[in-house]
Parts: sequence; C-alpha cells; structure tokens
Amino acid sequence: MYNLLKGKRGIIFGALDEKSMAWRIAERVVEEGAQITLSNTAMAIRFGKINELGEKLNAEIIPADATSLEDLENVFKKSVEVLGGKIDFVLHSIGMSMNIRKKLEYPEVNYDFYHKTLDISAISFHKIIQTGYKLGAFNEGVSILALSYIAAQRIFDKYNDMADAKALLESIGRGWGYYLGRELKGRVNVVSQSPTPTTAGSGVEGFDFFYKYSEKMSPLGNADINDLADYCVTLFSDLTRKVTMQTLYHDGGFSSMGMSIDVMDAFVNGFDKE
Ligand code: NAI
Repeated sequence: MYNLLKGKRGIIFGALDEKSMAWRIAERVVEEGAQITLSNTAMAIRFGKINELGEKLNAEIIPADATSLEDLENVFKKSVEVLGGKIDFVLHSIGMSMNIRKKLEYPEVNYDFYHKTLDISAISFHKIIQTGYKLGAFNEGVSILALSYIAAQRIFDKYNDMADAKALLESIGRGWGYYLGRELKGRVNVVSQSPTPTTAGSGVEGFDFFYKYSEKMSPLGNADINDLADYCVTLFSDLTRKVTMQTLYHDGGFSSMGMSIDVMDAFVNGFDKE
C-alpha cells in the first residue's frame, strides 16, 4: 500500500459479486486511502453481493440504473453529501447485451436489444460524466475510467453487438476527455482488459477459448483482476495526471501480438495440454 489515493473521493459503478472487476478495484482504491460510494441497479443490489462489499469498505450503496439521468443525479448528489466533497475519480464497469444472452448472432440481432446494449454499455458512460459535470460535482483533475475489450478494434466471434458498444465507449472517452481536460484538467481513459472470468465475461459464448487463446498469445499472460485493480489505482492517482483520451491496453501484450510459439504449439498439440 502506498496511500496513492489518500484524501480522494470516488464512485464505483458495477460491483456485482467478488468476481466483478469493480469489486476488486473498489477494495484496492480503499486500501490506497480513498473513500468511495458504490452503485449498481436495484436488482443487482438485491441478487448480488454488493451489500457485503459496502459493509466491508464502509461505503454507501446508491442504487441506479445507469441509463437513467434521474438515478445518476441522485448518485452524484448523495455521493458528494456522504463523502463530504466533490468527486476525484469515477469507475464505469458496466456492460450488458441481451443479444449475447439470447445467443442472437450479429447478422440477426434484435434492434431493441441492440439499443439497450449501446445505452447500458456505452451511452451510460456519457450520461454519468454529463451528470457529474452539470452538477459541478467533479474536482479539478478528476480521473474517469471505463473498461473495454479489444473486440472494439478487431472482430472476435460471439462478441456480437458488445463490440460496437465498446467502440462507442472508447470514442465517448475521447470526446469527454477533450471537454473535461479543457474545463477541469480532468482525465478520461478507457482500459482495454484481458478476458477475465466474471459474470459478464463468462456470459460470452466461447469465453474459455478467448481466455486460453489470449493467455497463450500474450508474452506476459492475461492480466488478471488484481493486476487491473493496481493499474486503475495508478490511473486514479496524481502520478498519471497527463494521461487522457486513451484506450490503454492492459492485456499482457496481446494487442501487439500476431503469433506466439505457445499458440503454434497449442494448434499442434491441443489447447488444454500443458
Ligand atoms: P460483471 O457482470 O461483474 O459486471 C457488469 C456490471 O454491469 C454488473 O454489476 C451489472 O449489475 C452492471 N449493470 C448491468 N446493467 C446495468 C445498468 N442498466 N445500470 C447499472 N449497472 C448495470 O462483469 P465484469 O466483467 O466485471 O464487467 C465490468 C466491465 O468490464 C464491463 O464493461 C465489461 O464489458 C468489461 N470487460 C470485461 C471483460 C471480461 O472478460 N470480463 C474484459 C474486458 C472488459
């Protein structure tokens, strides 16, 4: 522990259970001295384990559907109130696709579902930032992060409309990065993470193969949830105050690879053979 976030106030969206990226990130930022509030949908609060996390971290849980401006306004107002000041960092760790859940392939997507995917998984990022900005709830130098996947740039079979949502999410990060940088010296970045076994991740058909393939392709292996939490701490801290408007690949090198000896070997001998 380095006290990198001492005195900082943050909002963490998207912790469902102990497998969630947001869960581990919430634990890590508190270890580094931050005070936080947690938010998720009323349903996730009822059926997930976020209450456990709230108790452990002494963090207030504020329900919100991240597509509702009214709910988000409440999250920011309450957070400023209970944390005793303006917000220094925000994590958007939210994603959902009904097309993926219903196994509708890309050529057959249902357009109501498609709108929902974009609204929940990408436009909510815009809405969160707009709400905090309009309320004047961000401190100067605020650092805002969302989580993405390399399917925003390259096609991964079965990643479906979530790939389009991730491309939009990364673009929204650049868009807001420009405005928050000018107005508040604020930073907005999107971390593109290795496949990670969570509820949302494992919901993508073929997840195990994505996971094994990128593990064998990446010289450092997949970045896990603890690596991600450490990386997010640095991005919320003052040590990275000129990093903004980026898609930051946190993937053990996967995004720069073409072929590795381990993948070649796996094609010959099988992926499960160690
Ligand atoms: P998760 O299932 O633990 O988290 C997803 C969260 O989104 C849940 O807490 C869920 O309640 C929340 N959510 C869904 N609809 C919502 C709504 N309308 N309003 C507010 N919250 C809502 O899974 P994970 O993997 O931790 O997902 C977090 C983020 O990381 C997502 O954006 C995901 O796409 C991204 N990601 C995941 C990877 C993986 O392999 N697991 C890889 C790269 C990025």
